[in-house]
Amino acid sequence: MAIIAGNWKMHLGPTEARRFFAGLSLDARAASQELLIFPPTVSLVAAAECPDRDARVQLGVQNIHWEDAGAYTGETSVPMAADAGASFALVGHSERRHVFGESDAQVALKVGAALRHSLVPVVCVGETLEERRADRVAEVILRQLDAVLGAFTEDEPRFLLAYEPVWAIGTGETATPEDASAAHSTLRARLDETLGLARAARTPILYGGSVKPANARDLLGAAEVDGVLVGGASLDPVSFSEIASAAG
Ligand code: 13P
Repeated sequence: MAIIAGNWKMHLGPTEARRFFAGLSLDARAASQELLIFPPTVSLVAAAECPDRDARVQLGVQNIHWEDAGAYTGETSVPMAADAGASFALVGHSERRHVFGESDAQVALKVGAALRHSLVPVVCVGETLEERRADRVAEVILRQLDAVLGAFTEDEPRFLLAYEPVWAIGTGETATPEDASAAHSTLRARLDETLGLARAARTPILYGGSVKPANARDLLGAAEVDGVLVGGASLDPVSFSEIASAAG
């Protein structure tokens, strides 16, 4: 079973979110994958309570604060996100890191907050084009991974990793299946060194960056790729379900 996750970013308000779920039709293969949608926070309740939402589609929040409550204007705490219907939380998405200046230390605090309230963190890592050209892919993604590994043991709690090369996000540039496999192998080797072989083998690593129906089968078929995190192509229910159907 692959994990097919859609990150809507700052798209689809409550009305459009309801329309998405009303339009989502899953064939048997798509429905047998683990399906996640990360709507904007303001659309979470509409998604959670939407009578048309196939209950097999789980929900997550795109960003969280590390405190449970307080004077943090504009932020969303994990208890609030959970109450609104989220079971997963994206943490350290490249747009949070690069547009909003989120640090590795803040990402680690957010992972801790998600785990305190039993949300499954989806920890995103990835290098910029400049870092790739300087041959620093492994250094960068391992630094980002190392910052959060202290939160996990050999057995628990559950978390997912997403490798999202920054240069492939929203650009139409896609990592080749070989690029994705290489980065995923690097991450899995670190999981093996730190959390042990069994845990490394069962931690899902998703690929994200310009995934579309046309390239999903090749990426999902690549070694070490356990699923995909889809941005733009997840906004349309037809293309999201086509991507899910492409999983083997
Ligand atoms: P795109 O699929 O639009 O490139 O976005 C990828 C992404 O950032 C998902 O989190």
